[in-house]
Amino acid sequence: MLVSLAIATANQPPNIVFVLADDLGYNDVSYHGSEIQTPNLDKLAIEGVRLENYYVQQVCSPTRSQLLSGRYQIHTGLQHSYIGVAQPNCLPTEIPILPQWLKNVGYATHMVGKWHLGFYKKACLPQNRGFDSFFGYHSGSEDYYTHFRGGYGVSFDDRDHWLGYDFWDNDVPFWSAISNYSVFVFNDRVNQVIDKHNKSKPLFLYLPFQSVHSPLQVPKQYQEPYKNITNNNRRIYAGMTSCMDEAIGNVVEKLKTADLWNNTVFVFSTDNGGQILEGGNNWPLRGWKASYWEGGLRGVGFVHSDLLPSDVRGTINKQLIHVSDWLPTLVNGVAGYPLNYTNLDGFNMWDIINSNKTSPRKELLHNIDPWPYQPKDFNTNMTSAIRVGDWKLLTGTPGANNGQWIAPPGSGITPHLPLTIPGQNVWLFNITADPYEEMELSEKYPTVVKTLLAKLDTYYKDSVPVRYPDDSDQANPALHNGTWAPWE
Ligand SMILES: *[C@@H]1O[C@H](CO)[C@@H](O)[C@H](O)[C@H]1NC(C)=O
Ligand SMILES: *[C@@H]1O[C@H](CO)[C@@H](O)[C@H](O)[C@H]1NC(C)=O
Ligand SMILES: *[C@@H]1O[C@H](CO)[C@@H](O)[C@H](O)[C@H]1NC(C)=O
Ligand SMILES: *[C@@H]1O[C@H](CO)[C@@H](O)[C@H](O)[C@H]1NC(C)=O
Repeated sequence: MLVSLAIATANQPPNIVFVLADDLGYNDVSYHGSEIQTPNLDKLAIEGVRLENYYVQQVCSPTRSQLLSGRYQIHTGLQHSYIGVAQPNCLPTEIPILPQWLKNVGYATHMVGKWHLGFYKKACLPQNRGFDSFFGYHSGSEDYYTHFRGGYGVSFDDRDHWLGYDFWDNDVPFWSAISNYSVFVFNDRVNQVIDKHNKSKPLFLYLPFQSVHSPLQVPKQYQEPYKNITNNNRRIYAGMTSCMDEAIGNVVEKLKTADLWNNTVFVFSTDNGGQILEGGNNWPLRGWKASYWEGGLRGVGFVHSDLLPSDVRGTINKQLIHVSDWLPTLVNGVAGYPLNYTNLDGFNMWDIINSNKTSPRKELLHNIDPWPYQPKDFNTNMTSAIRVGDWKLLTGTPGANNGQWIAPPGSGITPHLPLTIPGQNVWLFNITADPYEEMELSEKYPTVVKTLLAKLDTYYKDSVPVRYPDDSDQANPALHNGTWAPWE
């Protein structure tokens, strides 16, 4: 497969364009039946390969860390939550990441959008980790127009304190983005990257949009088509999604005009489930962002490429695929360069996507979060989730407050509440038979539970300590010219 791709493209590996949406829920694209209209995504997905057994992580930094490193969080120290804006923490710099691999094998590598993998020291920044250029923001969330964010540490309630600007052109604050909606600024920079691209090299473009994370903001005209959505959050969110969809359409048109499209592998993914408190929706999946229920983990994702054989185009791929698989899939499978697989948790899925072969992935560790106790042995008070074949086991607090089914606002559907048993800390589901996690089976299949707990213990013993440092006073934007900048 690698060989035939290389020949088909006159020995130049394909361009890779990876678009990541932020907090886009399972029920937030029209090709999944949403009331939100995403015509550009729909067309690309329906003419490409839709990944419908595809998993990401429960929140932002974890997904991004696995996408770029090909490693589970238990192997990077990022098991617990996302990276707080004032935490001296980042995806460990000794781990080679996707742009480094691609740059080493001749790609031009550009990033436009949200990083959120730590910025406390310069070595953590994308432009020092394999990207030829970085344009975007360091942290997790901010105003779409002003590009300021507040918040000491992880508490967004504190947004009035420590207000700082976070929008960068490599190492320099890009002040002229003030008052301009991030989707447009990113779209414009992508056009420039494509215009400047020298086709003697293949292009890797990583485009992690700010959309559709809170705060709920979008120019009025994008809300117009959704006047009949009475829920305020959902209506604005729908407009935000449409605005991102429009930009994705623009980027594809630009790649076509630049004659790059016919040799491009285009991947779209969300980073985690939708946040129902901020307009997102994952119906009919259970739970939402930040939980280990399917609504937090099952991702919207697809691959589109003119290079895909015609018999897989337009198909739905139901093989188990995980966000950690993209690194080997893109470097080894698409770019055609052998990778040293030591320490990778991801699999090369290119043959599985490109020719519908059976996935080598039989097992998926969603996560084990032992914070803050980190005892020697695994125990079921830790929050963890694992998938083995059809089975999924959850332990600890996988989302006690976000394990419900939430129907789209205005749909008229009233879902039943999940059965809660006080003190329960083990749940077992057959996800293939019961993708909505309605039938808890741990009592019925104790042997399966035992086997999966043993696997969790094995993974746990192979994990590195959690790195979750205290916030640093040195992060204060007042010490950095009013910006969220490296402080070490
Ligand atoms: C893509 O199109 C260009 C020009 O239209 C052509 O030269 C090139 O061979 C095409 N590449 C592939 C992989 O079809
Ligand atoms: C916003 O950015 C777009 C694209 O760069 C540009 O065309 C437009 O003039 C900018 N608007 C403002 C108000 O700066
Ligand atoms: C593109 O790169 C090649 C190889 O480095 C170089 O020879 C050529 O001059 C470049 N083209 C442009 C337009 O810069
Ligand atoms: C709003 O209208 C659109 C198109 O007319 C329709 O597809 C959608 O289901 C409606 N949504 C609601 C919440 O009524």
